[in-house]
Amino acid sequence: MNSRALWLLGAGLIALAGAVFAAETQGLAEANSAGTNPNPVRLMRPPVARLSAMALLGKEIFYDASLSSSGSLSCASCHSPDHAYGPPNDGPVMLGGANLSRQGARAVPSLTYLDRQPNFSIGPDKGDDDNIIDLAQMAALGQQAARTTKTAGGTGASANIVPQGGLFWDGRADTLQDQALFPLLDPNEMDGGSAAIVADKLRRAPYVNRFVELFGAGVLKNQGLLIAEAMFAVARYQVEEPSFHPYTSKYDYWLEGKARLSESELHGLQLFNDPGKANCAGCHTSAPTRDGLPPLFTDHQYEALGAPRNASLVANRDPNYFDLGVCGPQRTDVAEQTQYCGMFLTPTLRNTATRHSFFHNGVFSTLEQVMDFYNFRDTNPEKVFRRAADGSVQKYDDLPEKYHANVDITDPPFDRRPGDKPAMTDQEEADIIAFLKTLTDGYKVEN
Ligand code: HEC
Ligand code: HEC
Repeated sequence: MNSRALWLLGAGLIALAGAVFAAETQGLAEANSAGTNPNPVRLMRPPVARLSAMALLGKEIFYDASLSSSGSLSCASCHSPDHAYGPPNDGPVMLGGANLSRQGARAVPSLTYLDRQPNFSIGPDKGDDDNIIDLAQMAALGQQAARTTKTAGGTGASANIVPQGGLFWDGRADTLQDQALFPLLDPNEMDGGSAAIVADKLRRAPYVNRFVELFGAGVLKNQGLLIAEAMFAVARYQVEEPSFHPYTSKYDYWLEGKARLSESELHGLQLFNDPGKANCAGCHTSAPTRDGLPPLFTDHQYEALGAPRNASLVANRDPNYFDLGVCGPQRTDVAEQTQYCGMFLTPTLRNTATRHSFFHNGVFSTLEQVMDFYNFRDTNPEKVFRRAADGSVQKYDDLPEKYHANVDITDPPFDRRPGDKPAMTDQEEADIIAFLKTLTDGYKVEN
């Protein structure tokens, strides 16, 4: 298609979106009283099937605490199935190591919905190309507009080239298989010692016959292969086991027209999507993909938001220690690209209301604190950051000064300046929290 034809098509779509928007605002007013979605969609959920032999082996490994040096820590200890595969404790991080006394420096993420996480890359901001959109439905909720206001992280020439995808807060693993060996060996986590020690434990595990059945007896003699197959099995378990991606939140059912949102939840959703207000959907995508996959509440991109330093982390007792995310210290391959220092992966918000630790450093323990951060970071920073001895507010105190320019100050609600009116009122913050609570899996639909 030549560029003029493309342009015409684009213009046509914009006109269409405008018309639909006008029509749907009416629909939403009606929805407000009933609380149902005026334009239900069909969501494509992953098919539920029996776990393969490979996934069953992975399940054994996922729950096997003997693989840790303490003998009492398995994947499930930090990624608890009763907490959306997130941390079961109330603290900012989990403890590991031989005596369970070593503190990690990052919050434990939920393992739900990682099956759709793309590999790590640094490239053009694809925006929500594959995402979205049933125009008719989302235009009314402000989503269409929200997408157009999302600017890429960073400033200047690099503005449209963004890090995206990958696992961990800094994206340093690509696949669930690559990822699984990190916690097994991390001295702050399972502290498994070495690949040789882990392989030995696998050879003596009660489920060792499953390896032999799947790969033949030879696998036990080949340490590299044994570990690789074990990690592959852990990945298969996370991909196949339905509870890692159930899509059973109230919001999913609302999208399908099977549940009603309360007035507060619905108002929260509108604010969440509204590019001039909270603009949460600019990064935490709330609309289904074009082919009906449920939204993941992340655009898989990295942003530097300038969260406050968490004084309760042992690592932070060293004033020269900074967790810079994509540019280190955990990963080193992107370290020279200093425009990415301070960037962390946008996490899914599904099941976020079940957590007690928010952001990469676990600095927030309630959703109210998270909302205050978004609302007041720029208008009233004294409500978010600590003060130095001289009384000055230490904005972005978890990032060396030379990287402060990396922090996002363009995407609403971060486009405000001191003295401006905050993007949200107390009531609006509360409504957004009410909406976030509709993202918790396990909602029971009334018949
Ligand atoms: C001591 C607690 C602990 C244990 C045990 C643990 N993890 Fe984690 N897990 C974490 C932390 C902390 C992170 C985030 C680390 C980071 O981003 O650098 C994480 C991140 C992950 C991620 C990436 C999530 C995302 O959103 O990108 C996956 C997948 C994962 N863990 C799987 C596992 C598996 C599989 C095991 C068992 C082999 C395991 N974990 C054991 C604490 C733990
Ligand atoms: C510019 C992109 C962007 C916008 C806009 C945005 N977020 Fe985020 N959100 C992120 C990133 C990136 C993180 C992780 C930051 C970190 O760990 O340093 C995050 C973290 C969170 C977390 C913590 C989740 C967890 O598991 O730790 C919550 C809750 C959250 N956001 C809610 C919201 C809400 C509500 C809004 C709207 C008021 C919003 N976000 C707007 C990018 C964004």
